[in-house]
This record gives sequence, C-alpha cells and structure tokens, in this order.
Amino acid sequence: MVRERPADERMKKNLIGLVHNVPQSGSYAFSESSADVMTQVASIEETLRSLGYVSRRIPFSRDIDAFLATFREDPINMVFNLCETVDEDPLFSGHAAAVLELLNVPFTGSPSSAITWTMDKAMTKRILKACGIRTPKYLIYEGSPHFNAGYLTFPVIVKPRFEDASIGIDQESVFESEVALKEALGSFHERFGPLLVEEYIDGREFNVSLFGYPTANVMPVAEIDFSAFPGEVHHIVGYRAKWDASSPEYHNAVRRFPEDLPPPLQGSLEKIARECFHLFMLRDYTRVDIRTDRRNRPYVLEINANPCISPDAGFVASLAHAGINYTEMVRNFVEFTSLRSC
Ligand SMILES: Nc1ncnc2c1ncn2[C@@H]1O[C@H](COP(=O)(O)OP(=O)(O)O)[C@@H](O)[C@H]1O
Ligand SMILES: [Mg+2]
Repeated sequence: MVRERPADERMKKNLIGLVHNVPQSGSYAFSESSADVMTQVASIEETLRSLGYVSRRIPFSRDIDAFLATFREDPINMVFNLCETVDEDPLFSGHAAAVLELLNVPFTGSPSSAITWTMDKAMTKRILKACGIRTPKYLIYEGSPHFNAGYLTFPVIVKPRFEDASIGIDQESVFESEVALKEALGSFHERFGPLLVEEYIDGREFNVSLFGYPTANVMPVAEIDFSAFPGEVHHIVGYRAKWDASSPEYHNAVRRFPEDLPPPLQGSLEKIARECFHLFMLRDYTRVDIRTDRRNRPYVLEINANPCISPDAGFVASLAHAGINYTEMVRNFVEFTSLRSC
C-alpha cells in the first residue's frame, strides 16, 4: 500500500476549490472550446473524489462579490485554477489568479503575471525575440488602412493577438499574396480584434510540455502528424481540427510521440521550452507550441501557461506517455500547491 504523504493528509481536511470561467451558452461562436473548461472541472472533481478529497466548484465572473463570499463561507485552502477567460474575454485570463494571490490562497498553475504575459501573443514574441529565441516574423494589424506587409515573406498566417484554442484560425487564415491578405484583413479584424500577421512556417509542429514544482521537467515531445492531409490543405491545427469532430482535419491531425527525433532537434526543443518556462516565470505546467522550418530551425508559436487538462488534452497525453496517469497528475498538482502553502 502507498503511504500517504503528510501534505496529502493535511489537504484532505480542507476543501479544494475548482475555480472556472462560466462558458457562454447559446450563440457564442466558439462554444465548443469554451465548454471544454467544464470537462476539466468534472474530470478533476471526479479524480479528487477518488483520492478522498472534497471539492467545490467556484465560478469566476465579473460578479466578484459572489466569488469572495465563497471564500468567506468555506475553509478553502487550495484551488485548482481552471479559469481561462472572464465571460469569454481572454484579456482577463489572469484575473482569477490575481484575486487568489490577493486572498493568499495557493492555487495550481502559473502566477497571474505569467498568464497575462503569455495571453498576449505579440508581447510574448517581443520578449522571445529580445531574448534570442526564434519566433516567426510578424506584424500587428489594428485596422490601419496604411498596413504594409512588405517586411514579411509570403505565405503568411493571420491570427488573433489575444485568443487561444485556435479561435479564428483555419485554412482561410493562410494567405499567399499581399493582395489577398489586404482584402481579408478588415473582416478578420472586425471578428477578432487586433491581429498578428505572421510568416507561415512550412514544416513540422511540436508541442513541448513541462510539469513539476519547484522544478519543472520536460515531458515527452509530441508531434502533430499531418501526413493524412490532402496535398492542397495547409498543415495547421485550426479550430476545426481541434473542435469539430465532423471535419476531416479533426481526424487527420494526429498526435504522435516520435521516438526518432534527431538528438540536436530533440535537445533544442527541450532547451527552448525550458528557456520559455524560466523567462516568463511559469509554474507547475505549461505547453510550448513550436514549428520547425525545412532546415529544422525551431520557431516558438506561442506559450500556453495553464494548458488544457481535459482527459483527451495534449498535455495529459504527454504525461501519460511519461507514465503519469490522470490520477497521479491531479495528486501531483495538490502536492505542488501544498508546498506553497507551508
Ligand atoms: N506562423 C505559423 N506558421 C504555421 N502555422 C502556424 C503559425 N502560427 C500558427 N500556426 C498554426 O495554427 C495553430 C494555432 O496557432 P497558435 O499560435 O498555437 O495559437 P492558439 O493559441 O490558437 O493555439 C498552430 O498549432 C499551427 O498549426
Ligand atoms: Mg497553440
């Protein structure tokens, strides 16, 4: 029988809060990705129950009084922070963490500062560039009629500056010419706000996950295998590939764990992911999305501070590949957080 660690015993006396954003129902265009937070809540709740912990769901919205009242009513000594937005606004993705910091309640994942920095894809790229970590060349588009893409080599991909989960990204986001780009930018901007126009990296795609506290370890590197995509289709993980089970992309973008990566490539993917982790002061868990070009040069696309931890998520698959199952992952999160409550 596995002996319980003192931290486990201590935490079992307490109530664990599951803090989450409230998915907008009805006509919200990206309801599939938004609803996923409740899958995470249900899976962690069930796992905590199986481990003997009592948890309570705590919605985080603009109703901050209700949120604070929960902490006055109940002895919540730790929180799983699953909050991704506030009422679908990604600009506020770090706010739940910020309030928990002020309340002095230990919580899973990155501090509010790291969540906020990495939520802004442009700011992330500026910091990466300043620190010598390669990221695709880009321009910001904020609606100016004088936009000039001359600095970039085509094709380019357009993506929302502040969104996540491939919201606003699909085959129609890739442009071969400036003329076609300029025709489309206005409507993208209307729908998604500030945009990045980024050089398209035509090559392989990797997800590098890190897990652990106080030291995070690199988990097995995952690759997205696009070989089942028809020839004319861009090899990207767009919104349909992530969320629309009726689309061909969903079935044809296949996650694999390559065993035969050339050691220099494996080494540089791991090194870059670690550098990102330290640079942005990330904590507990993170997934760095990287593509390599035809010369095997890695480019960081973005950093996911608190990546999705639904049972079918890439981060969870990477841990499973390292022999860490879902229950063990949840148990580890409790332990990491309890170390910060001492
Ligand atoms: N510069 C790029 N070159 C090629 N593909 C890209 C580029 N940027 C994004 N993509 C594709 O779009 C997907 C989503 O982009 P990403 O920057 O990771 O944003 P998100 O936060 O929506 O996941 C990536 O997984 C990748 O397939
Ligand atoms: Mg991504």
